[in-house]
Amino acid sequence: MGAFPKSPIFSAETSVFIETGTASGRSSRIAFEIGFSQVHSCDIRSISSIDDLLRVSGFHYEKRKSTDFLTDVLASLEERATFWLDAHPPDFSPGAWSLWDELDLILAHRVKDHVIVVDDWDIIRRQFPERLEQRILAANPLYSFAAITFNRIPDILIAETCLGISSSIINP
Ligand SMILES: C[S@@+](CC[C@H](N)C(=O)[O-])C[C@H]1O[C@@H](n2cnc3c(N)ncnc32)[C@H](O)[C@@H]1O
Repeated sequence: MGAFPKSPIFSAETSVFIETGTASGRSSRIAFEIGFSQVHSCDIRSISSIDDLLRVSGFHYEKRKSTDFLTDVLASLEERATFWLDAHPPDFSPGAWSLWDELDLILAHRVKDHVIVVDDWDIIRRQFPERLEQRILAANPLYSFAAITFNRIPDILIAETCLGISSSIINP
C-alpha cells in the first residue's frame, strides 16, 4: 500500500489529479505539494482528518462511491488528467474491488490518453496477471506501463501514452 509517487513529473504533464479512496488525504496532499492545481477525491466512508485540505482552493472531495463520483467528474472533464486508483476495502480480493469499473469509466472517456496510476498492483497482478494491462491496451494500444517498487515489491503501476513519466520515475 503506497502513497502517490512524489514526482513533479506528473503535474508537469497534467494539472488535474483525480483520486479514488481519500482515506487520510495523504496522497491528495502530495498532489498539491508536487504542483497539481485541481485535486478531486472521494471516499465511501466519512473522513475526519482532511479539514486542512477542505480549506485548499482547488480541492474537491465527496463522501461517495468511486464509480458514481468518477461518472460525474468525467462528465465535465475536458483535459488529460492523472488518476490515482486506490479505493478498496482492506482485503486481498481485488476481483471484487471497484477498480475494474473505475477503469472502464476512465477508458470510455472522450480523452483517450489519461495517466492512470494504480496502487496495490502487486496484489492485483498475482491474482489477475496482465488483466489490467490488457484492459487498458484494448482501449488504446499506445499505452505503455512501468512499475514503482517498494521493498522490492512492484506495487504501483503507471500506465501512460508517451513514456515520459514512467521512464523518468523508474530511472530518475
Ligand atoms: C488504501 S485506502 C486509500 C489511501 C489513500 N488513497 C492514500 O493514498 O493515502 C482505501 C480507501 O478506499 C475507500 N474505499 C473503499 N471502497 C471504496 C469505493 N467503492 N468508493 C470510494 N472509496 C472506497 C476506503 O474507505 C479507504 O479509505
